[in-house]
Amino acid sequence: MRYEIHKVPITDSTNTELKELAKCGAPEGYVLVADAQTAGRGRLGRSFFSPPGSGLYVSILTRPKEPLSPAALTCLAAVALADTVSSYGIDCRIKWVNDLFIDGKKAAGILTEGSFCSDGSFAYAIVGIGVNLYLPDDVPGELRPIITSVFDHPTDLCTRDEFLDRLLLHFGEYYEKLPEITFREKYAALQNCFGRTVAFTENGTQRTGIAEGIDDSFRLLVREGNRVVSLERGEVTFAD
Ligand code: BTN
Repeated sequence: MRYEIHKVPITDSTNTELKELAKCGAPEGYVLVADAQTAGRGRLGRSFFSPPGSGLYVSILTRPKEPLSPAALTCLAAVALADTVSSYGIDCRIKWVNDLFIDGKKAAGILTEGSFCSDGSFAYAIVGIGVNLYLPDDVPGELRPIITSVFDHPTDLCTRDEFLDRLLLHFGEYYEKLPEITFREKYAALQNCFGRTVAFTENGTQRTGIAEGIDDSFRLLVREGNRVVSLERGEVTFAD
């Protein structure tokens, strides 16, 4: 993918801003990076803590030529992110479907948003990636037990830009091989929930089961007694 990188000091959300640019015809490979976001967004209507100078907040515009599911693009980005973190010698795992964990805590998340064709594939898709490169002192109390960072020490813009270069490289490698899904096995191998009891909601009811696999459509397979539930969206929490 040919990238066109645009950096801004601050925006409400790089996903929101890039969506507007996409509607006005911005090309595939347009990348928007912000030093801070005032309204960074996560999945399930959550906000994403995006203070200045400590994280990478980036959105990548894609215009897939072949039909592609939203989940596939998120999972592609998750593997590219894991490759990037691993390239610094840091061990990480993916928590289905879109979070990157280090030492059992969330260090990064992915929010894919787009405009859909009638077959459910994307006309265009924005892949938004937020990474805690390091944690500033003012992390809100409720986040402290659940988030972590890639690096222990304060990072600078050079570190951020180098991290971004590596991420875009890995992202491009997988993206260019589409429609071949070359990252599925790695995505499954990096999961942190297999063999664990997870809680999930099915038709409004809270249930638990043992997570045991990922299918070809990136659904999480959870065994509940004799039946296997395949979860398409939402999230699971650990219950063991
Ligand atoms: C999640 O945790 O559920 C996903 C978080 C995604 C955050 C990134 S930061 C860059 C882009 N802009 C946003 O507003 N969100 C994504």
